[in-house]
Amino acid sequence: MSDFSRLQHKTIQQSFTVQYQYPVLFLRNSFALDNSSLSELIDNRDEQPKILPVIDEQVVAKQPQLAPQIYQYMQHHKLDCLPAIQIAGGEACKNDTQVLDTIYSAVEKHAIDRHSYILVIGGGAVTDAVGYAAATAHRGIRLIRMPTTVLAQNDAAVGVKNAINYNKRKNYLGTFVPPFAVINDHDLLDTLEARDKRAGIAEAIKVALIKDRAFFYELYSDKDALAKFEQTAMESMIYKGAKWHLHHIATSGDAFEFGSARPLDFGHWSAHKLEEISNNSLRHGEAVAIGIALDSIYSHLMGYIQQNELAQILILLETLGFELTHPAIYQLDVKQALNEFKEHLGGRLCITLLSQIGSGFEVREIDISVMQDAIQALQLQEYLNWTEVA
Ligand SMILES: NC(=O)c1ccc[n+]([C@@H]2O[C@H](COP(=O)([O-])OP(=O)(O)OC[C@H]3O[C@@H](n4cnc5c(N)ncnc54)[C@H](O)[C@@H]3O)[C@@H](O)[C@H]2O)c1
Ligand SMILES: [Zn+2]
Repeated sequence: MSDFSRLQHKTIQQSFTVQYQYPVLFLRNSFALDNSSLSELIDNRDEQPKILPVIDEQVVAKQPQLAPQIYQYMQHHKLDCLPAIQIAGGEACKNDTQVLDTIYSAVEKHAIDRHSYILVIGGGAVTDAVGYAAATAHRGIRLIRMPTTVLAQNDAAVGVKNAINYNKRKNYLGTFVPPFAVINDHDLLDTLEARDKRAGIAEAIKVALIKDRAFFYELYSDKDALAKFEQTAMESMIYKGAKWHLHHIATSGDAFEFGSARPLDFGHWSAHKLEEISNNSLRHGEAVAIGIALDSIYSHLMGYIQQNELAQILILLETLGFELTHPAIYQLDVKQALNEFKEHLGGRLCITLLSQIGSGFEVREIDISVMQDAIQALQLQEYLNWTEVA
């Protein structure tokens, strides 16, 4: 009898490492002809790669000069730019699989290969949906993201995740594929509505609360400037927010989220559900602000954070103008939302709470009746009394 037949099975243990690197640039006026930041990213030494711009419709509407400017820029830098595609902005593009079809058919029509580039310019929803299309066409086309919202610049577009929704389930289909590069051009934010400038600040507050006490207190002391979207405060908030998101992805040891812990999702178990309940009338960042308030109140009711720290969190959110009592909160089914979040994480439930401002920790279960109390406190605005102690 051969050795082989005596074994129950043979194993070859496969193992390899793939190193990822991509630059995240912070700049202004990226399509000025003398600004070579973008053109230098494109490697056209040996071949002439194609560049397919895909732009958020709202950005095109609010910045009509942008598409011609891109075209002039590409011509000036001798880059092979295809006609830009426009896609609907906002969550609509993640709910509509036709968007994928539009991109796949452009990829096919223009014979875009894996050495070509998709240049996506838009909010987090557009960068998510186009990122998913870019990651799946030809098993991955190089993607340069140029986010045009605060939230996309400090969070959604700097990381490694892409997604679309399925059957109204948020981010149900998606990939972990790092971009080729990210360009955060502050000028692109000028035309944003106030609610979208505000919404993105929620993700910076989130990351400060779980990671960086000093950053939280910087945001807290800048709260009046941030409420008016003053440039210096906004730029610093975006840069530090992006830096913390990038730092977490690079150093957590779990960039592609194989484990169950998801600290960057602080406040998100309810936020995802609130977006859904509100039929996406709540922006992601607005829902995250409510989720942060809820899980901070819960952290206090469970005896983890002090009342004065909770008050500071709520004062910051209120000063920025977040509406923490949105009617969607009345319809939140805590048990179902937690179950769906658990399913989304895979494995066991893992929720991040606060032990103090700047420190998150993980719990494996949530006391539903205490969470109901937290919801009630939020609805009744009981915290308005608590804020007096701050
Ligand atoms: N991939 C990730 O890691 C990640 C992380 C966080 C959030 N997200 C996703 O990001 C999405 C939210 O992104 P968002 O907050 O950027 O909102 P959004 O993309 O929905 O954009 C909000 C609105 O602003 C418009 N818009 C975009 N840029 C504009 C500009 N410069 N001027 C005028 N209007 C403009 C859009 O068309 C849209 O109507 C959600 O789908 C969320 O799930 C993804
Ligand atoms: Zn988020």
